[in-house]
Amino acid sequence: MTSPVYVALDTTDVAQAAALATSLKGLVAGVKLGLEFFSYCGPRGIEAVADLGLPVFLDLKLHDIPNTVAGAMRGVAKLAPRLTTIHASGGAAMMKAAVEAAHEGAAKASRPATKVLAVTVLTSLDQAAMTEVGFGGSVLDQVKRLSELAQGAGVDGLVCSPHEVETVRSLVGSDMTLVVPGIRPAWAEAGDQKRFMTPKEALRAGADLLVIGRPITGATSPAEAARRIADELK
Ligand code: C5P
Repeated sequence: MTSPVYVALDTTDVAQAAALATSLKGLVAGVKLGLEFFSYCGPRGIEAVADLGLPVFLDLKLHDIPNTVAGAMRGVAKLAPRLTTIHASGGAAMMKAAVEAAHEGAAKASRPATKVLAVTVLTSLDQAAMTEVGFGGSVLDQVKRLSELAQGAGVDGLVCSPHEVETVRSLVGSDMTLVVPGIRPAWAEAGDQKRFMTPKEALRAGADLLVIGRPITGATSPAEAARRIADELK
């Protein structure tokens, strides 16, 4: 079976990210590099890891006016990550501009187009935090509303929490790629994750791809941990 797992390399150290990526090659679908890595290591850091041959999920969660997000996305397109993220709360026009720019940029650079994924509601925001910033209604209703808006704007997929993925899948159908973080194998430490699912549970609930960080990167042998997860999913 092809692995559904993207390993989150949350570090600012290119050498460390590259060493982990090398040790995990063939055992995972790819690596997720986010703001922490990008803010310090930049596009050259991304290229250094991508050159090792694993698909890259560039998790920048872009959110700005449409023109600026489009400009950023044209830059991202040159790096040709397999997946990249924007915030659905940036609005339909911003999401459409991002998708268009991703295609334009890819064509111009003669590279494959990145899949654009929308983040609906950050999992760090609970009901109280949502009310504080002025969103009425429930978190799940907001997730559903933004999922439909994102689908209408033409994004390729969504990032969902484990407890939303089943609802979102039934709402958006089978064409959208659903990527789920907050995953813990039964044998791993929960750490600061409070609501999580095992890899198998998340796939059953409708996930296409899983993001797993510390259970792999913090293991004594990351390769062994990744292999164990792959075996469990067979
Ligand atoms: O907790 P773990 O190390 O597995 O997290 C992996 C990645 O998933 C991190 O980059 C984190 O930002 C993201 N994450 C998330 N939502 C969660 C938990 C983790 O987006 N609920």
